[in-house]
Amino acid sequence: PAAVIVAIDGPSGTGKSSTSKAVASQLGLSYLDTGAQYRAITWWMVNNGIDLTDPSAIAAVAAKAEIISGTDPNAPTITVDGVDVAGPIRTTDVTSKVSAVSAVPEVRALITELQRSIAASAEKGIVVEGRDIGTTVLPDADLKIFLTASPEARAARRSGELKGADVKATQEALIKRDTADSSRKTSPLAKADDAVEVDTSELTLQQVIECVVTLIGEKR
Ligand code: C5P
Repeated sequence: PAAVIVAIDGPSGTGKSSTSKAVASQLGLSYLDTGAQYRAITWWMVNNGIDLTDPSAIAAVAAKAEIISGTDPNAPTITVDGVDVAGPIRTTDVTSKVSAVSAVPEVRALITELQRSIAASAEKGIVVEGRDIGTTVLPDADLKIFLTASPEARAARRSGELKGADVKATQEALIKRDTADSSRKTSPLAKADDAVEVDTSELTLQQVIECVVTLIGEKR
């Protein structure tokens, strides 16, 4: 079959990453975590002492960070200037700063171009997860999924992942980040008109995976 391109968007804590990796792994497709790329460039900015309250300072240096994403769903990798940043990009510090960096149009233009070239070179197809994949990065994707979940379900999942983290604080941080991501001018978090919306609040991960695999099967 021809390479299939799947876009999976939605706010954080809806099961995007777990679903995308499992679906790609089951179907032998590549996998791209675009949030990791925005986190990686944010990590680079923090590491280089860039003033993140100044969008023009961010824009001026955005092209300097060399981000490389490994697309094996069973072992995804991410490096910046050759440094493995898979761990450091998940800190609360980077998480709290990423929305300011990802809102800068020059950053989005660079990363969008990188994402398109990765998707184009995936021979068997690819599952790409993010916020603006169906709307902006890959508007011609074969299948677009928009995952949602109640704020309670999302915060509970994230707190579970962060082991012992305060559920209420996690929920507040999540809402703050989603509000920033949804309200920015350049390619905000949004459901594409032709995306299939799946509310994962009452579903197990396995059920969400099956749902997406079935939808892909219908497209092939
Ligand atoms: O998915 P994850 O939580 O790792 O994404 C981190 C951040 O990267 C988001 O909060 C958002 O600011 C940014 N992002 C984006 N566009 C994407 C994916 C992520 O702006 N396609």
